[in-house]
Amino acid sequence: MTVLTEIDHVAIAVNDLEAAIAYYRDTFGCEVDHREVVESDGVEEALLKVADSYVQLLSPTRDDSPVAKYLEKRGEGLHHVGYRVDDCAAALERVKQGGHRVIDEAPRPGSRGTTVAFVHPKGALGTLIELVQE
Ligand code: CO
Repeated sequence: MTVLTEIDHVAIAVNDLEAAIAYYRDTFGCEVDHREVVESDGVEEALLKVADSYVQLLSPTRDDSPVAKYLEKRGEGLHHVGYRVDDCAAALERVKQGGHRVIDEAPRPGSRGTTVAFVHPKGALGTLIELVQE
């Protein structure tokens, strides 16, 4: 039985959030559904709804945030995939039981009032994974 119930969001790291929003609006007609600064992560995000999922545009709010470092190293592009789960703690435990690396040892608050945990890209096929519980 799969633990992942749906793709919650695909996150794209961008240098200029306004320009990225304008690109999605002008090119694909997407409107911003939700916008939030997550100060603990040093990011501002804009969520654009695509069916029941989101495109999440992410830009750093300070130079020492992980997203700022990511942009410096790799430039703009795909940052992580957020999968919806029914039980974030259980899903995270399953990753750890499998001997895989995690970034968050325990679930924590995410944006939109969600509960989230990140799985390390090393050991996850090179993709940063976010487990999202609504
Ligand atoms: Co995310």
